[in-house]
Amino acid sequence: MPSNDKLFAYNLGQIVPLSEARLHISDLSVQRGYGVFDFVKVQQGYPLFLDDYLDRFYQSAQLMHLEVPLSRDELKQVIAELLDRNQLPEAGMKMILTGGYSEDGFTPMNPNLLITQLPLTLPSAEKVAKGIPIMTHDYVREVPEVKTINYSMGIRLLQEQKAVGAEEVLYAKNGIVSEFPRCNFFIVKHDDTVVTPAKNILKGITRKNVLTLAGRRYKTEVRDIRLEEVLQARECFLTSTTKRVLPIVRVDDVLIGTGKPGDVSLQLLQDLKDLEGEQVAAARQ
Ligand SMILES: Cc1ncc(COP(=O)(O)O)c(C=O)c1O
Repeated sequence: MPSNDKLFAYNLGQIVPLSEARLHISDLSVQRGYGVFDFVKVQQGYPLFLDDYLDRFYQSAQLMHLEVPLSRDELKQVIAELLDRNQLPEAGMKMILTGGYSEDGFTPMNPNLLITQLPLTLPSAEKVAKGIPIMTHDYVREVPEVKTINYSMGIRLLQEQKAVGAEEVLYAKNGIVSEFPRCNFFIVKHDDTVVTPAKNILKGITRKNVLTLAGRRYKTEVRDIRLEEVLQARECFLTSTTKRVLPIVRVDDVLIGTGKPGDVSLQLLQDLKDLEGEQVAAARQ
């Protein structure tokens, strides 16, 4: 694996060595935490489900009134060039669009675009085999449908999370669960129905793929889920680009199902890995 100092990044119109990528402190991302981003997984050299991530990136930008300075084709060209220059086949490609350099520190000017490609760590086989404990927290993200760069609550809760031995925090507001700071949430009912929240979430690309895959084997529902229903579920799992499908075995102090990863969660993880493999094979042709 190449060390980070051999990597290149896209920085305000140019591809530069990663160590030279810069933003001025007047940028609204620094001043006010204003900006959006997206994150694509590169597997065996191919950015998986790229069009879905680009759709979401342009939509996030639009909803935050920021204009992406590159067309979709230009953005794809830059991604292809970074893949070529970095030669990092297993990686995360992050596109960040900031509020831009602001004269008064509040009004957005011309958004700045940065793209990095960095090595990726996926959950270990051991973690998947054991499943993870999570805690809940009363919160809902400010603009849930947008992938903003603001993760303040999730980051602030890291200490509490560690103190209670949880590995992730599930947000719930008025007893209705939504998502994690960086992942979506699913439950599996005792009749195998796979359910995921409908509202107050970022529409994860992995969530979308898992819902499609689940629909081929099980009944699926997209609707509100109350915390009590979570605690009585047979299985729970989370989904994200980097974590794929990760079983959850404890929510606060309640064990879920048998306290071990469930068959449906593990089946969907395998189905997702197969789908990723098909994408790579199709891209190679
Ligand atoms: C708030 C939030 N929810 C859900 C997800 C999962 O989305 P995806 O499957 O596209 O990675 C993310 C991804 O980072 C996220 O930031």
